[in-house]
Amino acid sequence: MSAPASTHPTSGSQKAAMDRMYRLTRHIYDATRKPYLLGRDRMIAGLEVPPGGTVLEMGCGTGRNLIAAGRRHPGARLYGFDISGEMLKTARRNVEHSGLEICLAEGDACVFDAEANFGVAQFDRVYFSYTLSMIPDWATALAHGLALVKDGGRLSVVDFGFCEELGTPARTLLHGWLSLFHVTPRADLHAEMARLAKKSGRTLHFERPARGYAQLGTIC
Ligand SMILES: C[S@@+](CC[C@H](N)C(=O)[O-])C[C@H]1O[C@@H](n2cnc3c(N)ncnc32)[C@H](O)[C@@H]1O
Repeated sequence: MSAPASTHPTSGSQKAAMDRMYRLTRHIYDATRKPYLLGRDRMIAGLEVPPGGTVLEMGCGTGRNLIAAGRRHPGARLYGFDISGEMLKTARRNVEHSGLEICLAEGDACVFDAEANFGVAQFDRVYFSYTLSMIPDWATALAHGLALVKDGGRLSVVDFGFCEELGTPARTLLHGWLSLFHVTPRADLHAEMARLAKKSGRTLHFERPARGYAQLGTIC
């Protein structure tokens, strides 16, 4: 039986855009993204999943990160969802080849119903990897991600930074190129994570590795 549909005003158009973009490129996604989606493995290594803990990836793409998390943190119970049914075809195939047990579902990060899809309401670790920069209403998705974290759990984000240190010409070029792929680096990510951390009485660790090319934040 499939879970009840949860929708946001942008769910339909976003799903259509992502399916269009990834229908063909999902086949070369992992090989081509590896050099420039920086910080993903560092975030995964730092998850510190408690024994038998639950991990949720919001916008899991090909499943590459969940498979890496499963190998890095044996015993973790792994869950992921994505708005693109096309991406999920590749994720399902990769998960099957990995031999790991990873639960996958289709849904929008702004409204995803984890209880209905996975029978799990909250998780020890929740993360977004290069996904918020593609979600039109990213602040709603971020707040929803935090709502899916258990008390004492953590929300992590790794994504493109605003490249403050690269200088204006390089930054303009990079951002123009990223916009062709529906990617908008979130200049306000730090401020929004700080606001959510304060509101929920938690702590934020935030850094900008690679001279601001990436941003990496964790609310604990
Ligand atoms: C750049 S890819 C990153 C995939 C993966 N997280 C990684 O690090 O390799 C962005 C992913 O976010 C998904 N996505 C975009 N908008 C979404 C939304 N509103 N809800 C869930 N997933 C979304 C896309 O379909 C795509 O798989």
